[in-house]
Amino acid sequence: MTTTDSLGRVAVDPFGSDIAAEMAKLRALGPVVAVELPGGIPAWAPTEYGVLKDLILDPRVSKNPRLHWRLWPELGEHPAWGWVLGWVGVVNMFTTYGPEHARLRRLVAPSFTHKRTEAMRPRVEAITAELLDTLESAGVDGRVVDAKRLFAYELPIRMICELFGVPVVLRADVAELVAAIMDTSDPGPEHTAFVQERIGTVLGSLIAYRREHPGDDMTTELIRVRDEDGDGLSDEELLYTLLLVIGAGFETTVNLIGNAIVALLSDPAQLAVVRSGQASWDAVVDETLRVHPSIASLPLRFAVSDLKVRGVTIPAGDAILTTYAAAGLDPAHYGGAAHVFDATRGAGDHMAFGIGVHRCLGAPLARLEALTALPALFDRFPGLTPAFEPGELRQVPSFIAFGWQQVPVRLNG
Ligand code: HEM
Repeated sequence: MTTTDSLGRVAVDPFGSDIAAEMAKLRALGPVVAVELPGGIPAWAPTEYGVLKDLILDPRVSKNPRLHWRLWPELGEHPAWGWVLGWVGVVNMFTTYGPEHARLRRLVAPSFTHKRTEAMRPRVEAITAELLDTLESAGVDGRVVDAKRLFAYELPIRMICELFGVPVVLRADVAELVAAIMDTSDPGPEHTAFVQERIGTVLGSLIAYRREHPGDDMTTELIRVRDEDGDGLSDEELLYTLLLVIGAGFETTVNLIGNAIVALLSDPAQLAVVRSGQASWDAVVDETLRVHPSIASLPLRFAVSDLKVRGVTIPAGDAILTTYAAAGLDPAHYGGAAHVFDATRGAGDHMAFGIGVHRCLGAPLARLEALTALPALFDRFPGLTPAFEPGELRQVPSFIAFGWQQVPVRLNG
């Protein structure tokens, strides 16, 4: 957060350089604050846990910009706003409201039940074991290795690509596309054009490939729904549903695993508490998501009618940012030390996976991956130590994604 505009809106830092500090500054301004997102998009930012929760659960708050965003018709007049199209300019369950949302979610939800997720456990364990071997080879003789690139990143991307039958040749393109959507540091028209072009070509290639080579994967299943089911998907919805589920499915989990490694290595007392069994790995995952939610702030929700929020009116048609990081770090909800990572806190009520009708479909998978990867890493390398100084790590260039660019470690002290 750096400047305020002539209307008193606070500019959100497009690099997300220090999200925790930014949320604290916003909170000091009130329970809901007028902000400006990268490129100058006006929005409201709830800064307290209770305010955010009430807004998310309020049926007068929509996620459909086409129906409920007053500025939607003039988006084309603002080239610097185009980056938001990667988030709200697509039609899938993430950007729909009411029955349309229910229809689009129903088509995908059965693939992500706890039971279906549990069936993925053997693959998650096998990939984790393989990655630990790779890490060990890379880290011989006390060499510094990047646990994000070689470990945290690899497990979720391999899993999501297997689930959706993404051929190996397309993996780097998919990863590049998702990183570009998350990157809010350069909201210019070139960036927007790149993202729009890549959505069509990369995911279009995936659909074309799976039409020709059907498999036992979710892309094939969605194509079948598209082609055979009367209540099914349009071509556009198919493309954008794949974008959502593949995009949501790995970068978030990469950051969950990376952020947890950093939190534990940065505080040996916390690591000791976990190693001794005083705090569970489940608790580590929840506390990581509370303090360092993989999605810090999500664009966008919209007021369907005027909303009175603790003395502030959010006019109908205005945009609202879903500020998970502000909620997780709210001292009114989590106490004065809300900013401190404490796995014994028992903060299972965080909202980092969302709540209400849009709650995360992939939470069981994300948990399975993190709860397999983290204990396996710390068990395999009891001498794992940070190869970074406090405050040295850099956040990915985004106010949306909350994760470190690298996680440099030594495997044996
Ligand atoms: C640590 C990992 C993850 C985090 C923190 C996370 C976070 C979230 C959040 C906050 C939402 C709610 C959006 C809203 O408020 O509107 C959401 C929705 C969603 N997530 Fe996740 N997610 C994670 C992993 C995954 C995975 C692994 C998948 C799929 C493989 C996934 C698929 C989805 C989908 C499809 C939605 C949209 C649901 C809807 O709009 O009805 N997510 N996620």
